[in-house]
Amino acid sequence: MEKEINPEILFLEKEERYKEMLSIVRAVIENEKDMIANMANVAAILKELFSFLWVGFYLIKEKELVLGPFQGQLACTRIQFGKGVCGTAWEKKEILLVPDVNKFPGHIACNSKSSSEIVVPLIHDNEVWAVLDIDRSEIDSFSPTDSLYLNKLGELLSNQTFK
Ligand code: SME
Repeated sequence: MEKEINPEILFLEKEERYKEMLSIVRAVIENEKDMIANMANVAAILKELFSFLWVGFYLIKEKELVLGPFQGQLACTRIQFGKGVCGTAWEKKEILLVPDVNKFPGHIACNSKSSSEIVVPLIHDNEVWAVLDIDRSEIDSFSPTDSLYLNKLGELLSNQTFK
């Protein structure tokens, strides 16, 4: 596997970039079972392709979310079940798309520059084992396209981790 992303991908429309992202991730993780290594590379790939403000994972450990691999500025270390956008996505077992974090009751502000957020729960055997959290500094910057492809990414990671 080549270790560099072709910069031409950065000029593609969002949906095409997401499709490329999935094929890069497939190639990068297919022979690696270690979830931390895979999450670290996925965070790097997403940051490079989409210039997100912050992108990273929280893993469920002893009934709370604990910070895992990420790209961006330093972040909150632990999040409780049902708290913030991440803890709520865990509780509801569904993707949360938050157009304006200031209007989400209980939002946990790790970074004052964050304005919108998407959180994708990673699910195996109907249990959430981690969440993928992404922030952008612009309001209303995630769409159903982001949900669709980030959900596929979550399934890919879950399948590889638990195969
Ligand atoms: N905003 C998140 C906390 C994590 S940081 O954004 C990295 C939340 O409300 O759960």
